[in-house]
Amino acid sequence: MDIKSYAGDIKETGIKSAVVLLFEGDLRPLSRLGRGVSAKVKRALESLDFKGKEGQLEKIPLPGQRIELVYLVGLGKKDKVTLDTYRRAVALAVKRLKKDGVEEAVVISPKIDAKISQALAEGAVLGDYTFDKYKTSREKEKKEVKELVFHKADESALKKGVILAEAQNYARSLVNEPGNVINPITLAEEAKRLAKEYKLQCKVYDEKEIQDMGMLALWSVGKGSATPPRFIHLAYKPRGKPKDRIVIVGKGLTFDSGGLNIKPGDYMRTMKMDKSGACAVLGIMKAIAQLKPKVEVHGIIGAAENMPSGTAYRPDDIIRAKNGKYIEIDNTDAEGRVTLADALSYASELKPSRIIDMATLTGACMVALGEYTAGLFTNSEKLGNEIKEIARETGERVWELPMDDERLRKKIKKGPADVVNTGGRYGGAITAAMFLEEFVGEGIEWVHLDIAGPAWSREDYGYYTQGGTGFGVRTCVEYIMRL
Ligand code: BES
Ligand code: MN
Ligand code: ZN
Repeated sequence: MDIKSYAGDIKETGIKSAVVLLFEGDLRPLSRLGRGVSAKVKRALESLDFKGKEGQLEKIPLPGQRIELVYLVGLGKKDKVTLDTYRRAVALAVKRLKKDGVEEAVVISPKIDAKISQALAEGAVLGDYTFDKYKTSREKEKKEVKELVFHKADESALKKGVILAEAQNYARSLVNEPGNVINPITLAEEAKRLAKEYKLQCKVYDEKEIQDMGMLALWSVGKGSATPPRFIHLAYKPRGKPKDRIVIVGKGLTFDSGGLNIKPGDYMRTMKMDKSGACAVLGIMKAIAQLKPKVEVHGIIGAAENMPSGTAYRPDDIIRAKNGKYIEIDNTDAEGRVTLADALSYASELKPSRIIDMATLTGACMVALGEYTAGLFTNSEKLGNEIKEIARETGERVWELPMDDERLRKKIKKGPADVVNTGGRYGGAITAAMFLEEFVGEGIEWVHLDIAGPAWSREDYGYYTQGGTGFGVRTCVEYIMRL
């Protein structure tokens, strides 16, 4: 899909279809279609029930006119509209254009600036996403929107939006790949391929190197699988002296069966998405390589498959992590935090100012916040607030949960080892985050995003389709770009 801006009179584009985004009760933007067309649209509206409410879409055919097809898309009340409203509106329009076989359209927005331009481009590319490579009966000539021309949009903001949304779509597709296609080895191969394409540094450590480096926590989680674990380190280094160094860590369980504490079938379903944090890291590195900030960015993934077998790790095992702390295993299904113990220890050794980790870590987080909001946990009020602020713009919902309850913290300090990998029934998302904090180096600002809910969508909504969402990509990239 080609995304462009045009600042002149839309008639000069020669494009015969238009999408007009409208605030509720305000038809003024229609005038940009030209007087004749605008009057005809208004006439047609007299017999239609279009108010401009969010999600409303009306198709108005104008045979014989310079613009033959006008789509009106409601944004809702002007004072309620957010950047995400623009994303969802364009996504809705793109899906409809595709269905109707319209290949090119002009898009008119009632308000436009750099941020809105970027959001419009993101909505278009995200709304265009499908994952149908395994449908052999795909329609032969697939309908495609080839060009969208955004009236008076900011050209470079459109470009940035396309890069971000394509990175997010890339993460979505990786999440959607099943465990028989993406396993720790093939995920590492994908990281290498990405690094080569975008000139990033990439080092992959195999199961022997993982053990030699003292990452026995990651190794233990992976050792029950026929496909051994991999540790992936991607790096982007800017030209000249970097302003800062940041590490993004992603949970990379290519499949989570629960291990010996095996999950019941209903809960095991969709656990190919347990690599969503890792896929977000790959998406972030892809975008960063194109946007080229003056910051050094490292992407870290501990990739493993959690399986039950004769070589699997067990409840009661005591394992030494890379930073020297001992972990007692209470439940092999609380494996994400065990792999992240080593990934966060390794990340800390890179001496960054900040670490952000993303992990589909706990069902408890979904119980606490619902499935559309990520839990945010931090040791730094400042970093936490910065991420919350950006997340409001990206539309990726986050909500902070507290880390200051020392009685909860005690629950992961019980038993014979330094820490135990579960903290009991209550506050499960918080005790998981407290466990992770044990492996973050002194003086490093850290944010943990528990994306168990929003990494996967059970239904189509806005620019999301059922399946992987690529949650976290845009928020992290925006954060890095503002450092
Ligand atoms: N990957 C799961 C968490 C999860 C659950 C992600 C549902 C997405 C949807 C994680 O490894 C897990 O199994 N967590 C356990 C922890 C428990 C054993 C302490 C959970 O949440 O039940
Ligand atoms: Mn698990
Ligand atoms: Zn898991």
